[in-house]
Amino acid sequence: MPWTRRHLLTIEELSLDEIHQIHATATAFKKILGRSVKKVPALRGKTIVNLFLEPSTRTRMAFDMAAKRLSADVISLDGSSSSTTKGETLRDTAQNIEALQADMIVIRHSAAGSPLYLSKILGIPVINAGDGAHEHPSQGLLDTFTMREHLGSLKGRKVVILGDILFSRVARSNIHALTKLGANVTIVGPSTLVPEWFKALGVTVSHDLRSALADAEVVMLLRIQHERQTSGMFPSIGEYTNLFGLNKTRAGWLNPKAIIMHPGPINRGVEIDSELADGVNSVILQQVTNGIAIRMAILYLCSGGQPEQVIPSA
Ligand code: CP
Repeated sequence: MPWTRRHLLTIEELSLDEIHQIHATATAFKKILGRSVKKVPALRGKTIVNLFLEPSTRTRMAFDMAAKRLSADVISLDGSSSSTTKGETLRDTAQNIEALQADMIVIRHSAAGSPLYLSKILGIPVINAGDGAHEHPSQGLLDTFTMREHLGSLKGRKVVILGDILFSRVARSNIHALTKLGANVTIVGPSTLVPEWFKALGVTVSHDLRSALADAEVVMLLRIQHERQTSGMFPSIGEYTNLFGLNKTRAGWLNPKAIIMHPGPINRGVEIDSELADGVNSVILQQVTNGIAIRMAILYLCSGGQPEQVIPSA
């Protein structure tokens, strides 16, 4: 099937075939990133604007790096240095970016649905780099790409997502990607942060860490999203760590070969101990590296590129 999507707004809307196409294209780009000359001319002459109205380290830098590796010109604008601080609306900001002849916009915003809104009012492709607690599709794609590198097919694999699920866009995007890829997903944490209604997304809901971690082949830790929580969801950080923090003893409940993942930023000593974050089972920095190839694939495909133009035929 040819790639036809111009925007990347959610993983929920992607088909399994589209997820495979992005992963296959990223695999080809990852090989290019391993060469001494890491740049290809695929997007030469195009201008990509990274509009980040919420803080970011990994996502913004990886989109920036990906655009440069594809030979695009890239301009980054953040909230504190943009005219949004003078009262300009998102609509006006985005329409001005289009009037400045950008070819694509990558947006991070605290409001769920803002990338969808821009996709309806702009004539250029819109890429969601995280919208509120809704979705973070490029993160879900790089996480599942990393899992597939370690495990091969994810069909029937037990993947545990531990932490603040309720406020996590990373959790939602991973749940959509993993269930489409056939994984058995368990979400675990305090009942205030892991509500029963997530079962409707096809996952197992647990509040019992030991049984959730038993035989898991992947555990993904999520930090507490203080910036999105509106009221106390648990008594204290110390109590959360005592009950749900991943330490060496609890990691012993996992499959011994299980990989430990975290989208970052990490709060060391809260959701995960340093010896595990930095240990042999951790693939946290591999996730970050894979973020470049995945974002190259997204920028390339949504600019009109086709997977077979990058992927050598068998
Ligand atoms: N994982 C992630 O979205 O990290 P940043 O907020 O640093 O981009």
